[in-house]
Amino acid sequence: MIGIPVSGRILNGNQIRDEILAEVKQEIAALAYPPGLTAVLVGEDPASQIYVRNKMKACETVGIRSKTLRPSADITTEQLLAIVRDLNSDDSVDGILVQLPLPPQVDTQQVLLAVDPAKDVDGFHPVNMGALATGAPQLVPCTPAGLIEILKRSDIPIAGKQAVVIGRSNIVGKPAALLLLMENATVTICHSRTADLPAVCRQADILVAAIGRGAMVTRDYIKPGAVVLDVGMNRLTDAADVERAFSAHPAKIARFREKGTALVGDVHPGDMEELSSAYTPVPGGVGPLTIAMLMKNSVRAAKLRRG
Ligand code: GUN
Repeated sequence: MIGIPVSGRILNGNQIRDEILAEVKQEIAALAYPPGLTAVLVGEDPASQIYVRNKMKACETVGIRSKTLRPSADITTEQLLAIVRDLNSDDSVDGILVQLPLPPQVDTQQVLLAVDPAKDVDGFHPVNMGALATGAPQLVPCTPAGLIEILKRSDIPIAGKQAVVIGRSNIVGKPAALLLLMENATVTICHSRTADLPAVCRQADILVAAIGRGAMVTRDYIKPGAVVLDVGMNRLTDAADVERAFSAHPAKIARFREKGTALVGDVHPGDMEELSSAYTPVPGGVGPLTIAMLMKNSVRAAKLRRG
């Protein structure tokens, strides 16, 4: 059939990340002194440990002075607030990153509110969210900012397009919708209570999946030729789930039989490859951009604060 793609173009997040890191490195080399980023990693959550390690590695690549504080998992909200206040008043720290999720006894909202908005390289503080919502962004959440970079650097037009975002989290869904709106897309935000979710998603020229459920978005959600950005990172351990998600990828099923786990996004990989005009794979799509945008935000925070 004419006009319907056989297989979508892969939007290579690793390649785009490397481009951005090279640019950031140059930008830092021209500064009077390198920006400083401090991560706070509470407890031993294995996924968080990997994320923070990768963030610190990127700092080294671009020339950001980085440090990781590792309080134990039984920390209280008050103790964590004290750490954040110390970082707020430390002039050598340009960026503060409190890795989420925090342990259940800690009041996450209170901790995020305590971060100086000028050092909030995650863009999670209500002041930064408010700036974004009113169209004057300062520090923007990294994953949503990465989605826009992928589209722009892949020459995919946004203005005038129908964009559908599945998921309304403060970290991804809401800021992604605001950024797409700033780029003049017509934006719909969907969530667990959306009526006839597949039909709404089928309107999308640009479909963003940020739900946190492995391979939930299947062919009935995807308009042929749509651009699909898959923010999900789900670890599957159930054989039936893996067989359903990777029905088009026997090699992936074989690897699962050896390892006992498989990584999948929120979108069914085979359906996305077959129906989209372009898509971000998992892994190697959106994930690498989150780190690249964190580096960009750290430089931006340093410049804004130091003038
Ligand atoms: N946990 C999952 N994603 C993120 C992120 O972008 N920033 C922080 N701080 N924690 C996270």
